[in-house]
Amino acid sequence: MKHNCIPQQFQINELIHQSTYLLNGELIEWSGETTDIYSTISSTEDYKPTLLGSIPTLTETEALQALDAASEAYGKGQGLWPTMKVLDRVECMLKFVEQMKTKREEVVKLLMWEIGKNLPDSQKEFDRTVQYIYDTIEDYKQLDRDSAKFHKQSGVHAHIRRGPLGVVLCLGPYNYPLNETFALLIPALIMGNTTIFKPAKFGVLLLSPLLEAFQNSFPKGVVNILYGRGRTVATPIMKDGRVDVLALIGNSKSANALQDHHPKSNRLRMVLGLEAKNPAIVLKDADLDLAIAECIAGTTSFNGQRCTALKVLYVHEDVVDEFNRRFSNAVDALKFGNPWDKDVKLTPLPEPDKPVYIQELIDDAKIKGASILNSRGGETTDNYIFPAILYPVTKDMRVYEEEQFGPVIPVIPFSKIGEPLDDMAASNYGQQVSLFGKDTRTLAPLIDTLVNLVCRVNLNSSCQRGPDVYPFTGRKDSAVATLSVHDALRSFSIRTFVASKDNDYNNAILKELLDSNASNFVSTDYLL
Ligand code: G3H
Repeated sequence: MKHNCIPQQFQINELIHQSTYLLNGELIEWSGETTDIYSTISSTEDYKPTLLGSIPTLTETEALQALDAASEAYGKGQGLWPTMKVLDRVECMLKFVEQMKTKREEVVKLLMWEIGKNLPDSQKEFDRTVQYIYDTIEDYKQLDRDSAKFHKQSGVHAHIRRGPLGVVLCLGPYNYPLNETFALLIPALIMGNTTIFKPAKFGVLLLSPLLEAFQNSFPKGVVNILYGRGRTVATPIMKDGRVDVLALIGNSKSANALQDHHPKSNRLRMVLGLEAKNPAIVLKDADLDLAIAECIAGTTSFNGQRCTALKVLYVHEDVVDEFNRRFSNAVDALKFGNPWDKDVKLTPLPEPDKPVYIQELIDDAKIKGASILNSRGGETTDNYIFPAILYPVTKDMRVYEEEQFGPVIPVIPFSKIGEPLDDMAASNYGQQVSLFGKDTRTLAPLIDTLVNLVCRVNLNSSCQRGPDVYPFTGRKDSAVATLSVHDALRSFSIRTFVASKDNDYNNAILKELLDSNASNFVSTDYLL
């Protein structure tokens, strides 16, 4: 790709050398080691990764300073942020989101370069995140309204609210470096927690345009942003023991390793969105046009780099030949190109070693008896490998077991519905399933079983997280806690309350507390 073939507004004309990090309310200049950030998208005719800029390679020292800052901002429960009035925290969040909206163009451009997400999906990621912030604010206000009252039971008055948990370490994934990181950070913040946040391995520079907004919207120490390797910065923070919540969207192995470092396992809460191997089950009476369209979206959007992607397709043996023929044609018709190219569906993979890994899965499956069904399957370029449909896939193949998180599509024929159900029950994962079929007598008992194996059954549609108001969670190694606009507020808080025996002495004190408005917690103010 020649530089002048890239639309002018998306060209990289200036490198972004992110030379500061956010610590205790200050953007600290870093003069130590730095790490270059490359895109796997080439800007020259002969393939060459494009240098985008650099970030600080912070060390354990800065990591522990960030932990000190977050702990001080929590201030043993006395900090400005955790004791602030709900309305004041909302004001800070609104200030942040208003500034964030002005950075849309820069962030969208970097999303394309850093992780290869196509233009419409990058725009959607940004807009969806802004909407998520507004929806979170509204839900938080509703939560506050619902608790603006007293209960009385067995002679005890209670004023029950949700309070923050403390210091939250936030680690997001590279496939949604903005949206999913913010899906953790925003509810954690609004509930009154203080945070340390480290961007994912890709999708780092796109946060640079937002650093000042973070700095000027929240009190010092409430948001601390670190750069560097997870092992170097996250491990010492966990080992210290002062972290109250590990909020991570990524891999269960890293989540387990980090969790194991924490010396106080009952202190540590976890909010985790982890890997999955969501299956599609295509029954023999399924509408194949619909099933194929949804399986294309499910397996190939963002090149399969979604935890919700369909990662294995079970197709009834009566329709599998027809399904395979039409599905292969549909996959081969998908357009590959750079993220800004018109109608492009498949885009460069941000991980330089991903094509080799996918090729290994293909080779392993072929040795064990599968074939590539589509003619373009496995075509490789410097930064891509075209999705290969592998058939028939069996349980001894790596592609059956491993979460491919990339462009390769295993298809398994089945004759009895018990086969996919048994596989799902035996799987380490339990996020979602897509079920394609029509006959309600067949669907009813299946739905009743599937809801007990996963957390969302998508009827005649591909798996997905959205709309963000719906619960997003999973069983087994797929998640801990539930995310959604509403549920995330619960996940990042705990019920805490003031109780007093019903007598004149206490009641007079309660009345004065309410009348004087002196407490931010004991308050029946109704937020409009
Ligand atoms: O990586 C997993 C994401 O949570 C998937 O979200 O369904 O909105 O693409 P999505």
